[in-house]
Amino acid sequence: MSEEILRFLREHRSISKTNNLWKFNDSIHFRPLNESLHICSENLEDHRQFLQDKPRSDYGQLPVIYFVTPTYPRREQIPELTRLAHTLLHIPRLHWLVADDQEKCNNFIDTLLNRFGIPFTHLMSPMPSKFRNEKPAPRGVANRRAALQYLRQHNLTNGVLYFGDDDNTYDLQLFSEIRNTQRVSMFPVGLIADYGVSGPVVRKGKVVAFLDSWVAGRRWPVDMAGFAVNLEYMAQYPYVNMPYKPGYEEDLFLRSIGLKMDMIEPRGNNCTDILVWHTQTKSKKLGMIRLESKYLDDRSNLGALLLNLKLMGVASTTENEGRNALISKNGKEKPHSIILS
Ligand code: UGA
Ligand code: MN
Repeated sequence: MSEEILRFLREHRSISKTNNLWKFNDSIHFRPLNESLHICSENLEDHRQFLQDKPRSDYGQLPVIYFVTPTYPRREQIPELTRLAHTLLHIPRLHWLVADDQEKCNNFIDTLLNRFGIPFTHLMSPMPSKFRNEKPAPRGVANRRAALQYLRQHNLTNGVLYFGDDDNTYDLQLFSEIRNTQRVSMFPVGLIADYGVSGPVVRKGKVVAFLDSWVAGRRWPVDMAGFAVNLEYMAQYPYVNMPYKPGYEEDLFLRSIGLKMDMIEPRGNNCTDILVWHTQTKSKKLGMIRLESKYLDDRSNLGALLLNLKLMGVASTTENEGRNALISKNGKEKPHSIILS
């Protein structure tokens, strides 16, 4: 640890030295992030002409919201990202960091993101293989770590960071509420666990405690979607981190940026409104469509359509598994050869 960082830490928070490890007052050891960054593609130009009926230039002074979305390949991925994009399309001055949990860059996602016109960065951030078969696995952590690394490497110390999963539902008001976060803002999240909600308890305009059905020793028992962080504030903490510890990601991240109760800015009418919902999409396994590959050419739309579905991770074609694909006309099943050859 460099002298400079040590001096900083001594000045800014209480630490002690044990066995050569620097221990923060909350007895957790943090190391600086050191992720390797893989950018698949990026377009930082906002090519939306109008936002909420006003020209884009009207919003030029607003702090940027860095909206970090972990995502991963499954049948629902493209529809989830499409739906989320349609929310984000309304939001000026937003940089969408989409971090995909897989080993290769998905070109389909680049094309999709480019079409929306929202400034975006598409990162590839696979979960380290040793965690892959753990139950529970640290979902979305490699993704968010990559995004934190991106913010650090690009020295982005202005604006606001928000972790927005690909399957949640966001009220447009949320964005106005978090945009002026000074240090850390918090608000309730709907549809969490047993109580259907998780969020701060506020008295006289101050956060004093938390309502959440799973405490498990967490000092900050909040959902990932229940807080936003000012980047200038975060930049003061060289040890910002999100460890691979399922269930404790939010708590440990917030500890790594030295959060104190009296810093928290309650949002959403003093934490009485729900501006984000922890919706979950029912997941199903890949569709299988049995068709002879000789019919997957340009004699019909099916070649191109099924190729698209394959690229989106929705359905696959097979020549020999299961029942032949049903193709019908006038209510009657027809042999493939009659319709397709
Ligand atoms: C719960 C919390 O409500 C989330 O706020 C939190 O991010 C998440 O746990 C977590 O474990 O950190 P939950 O709905 O149970 O969310 O989890 P998912 O929505 O399945 O996953 C969270 C995020 O990680 C999603 O954006 C998802 O696309 C991504 N993810 C999930 C991956 O990148 N890889 C995976 O293998 C699974
Ligand atoms: Mn989810």
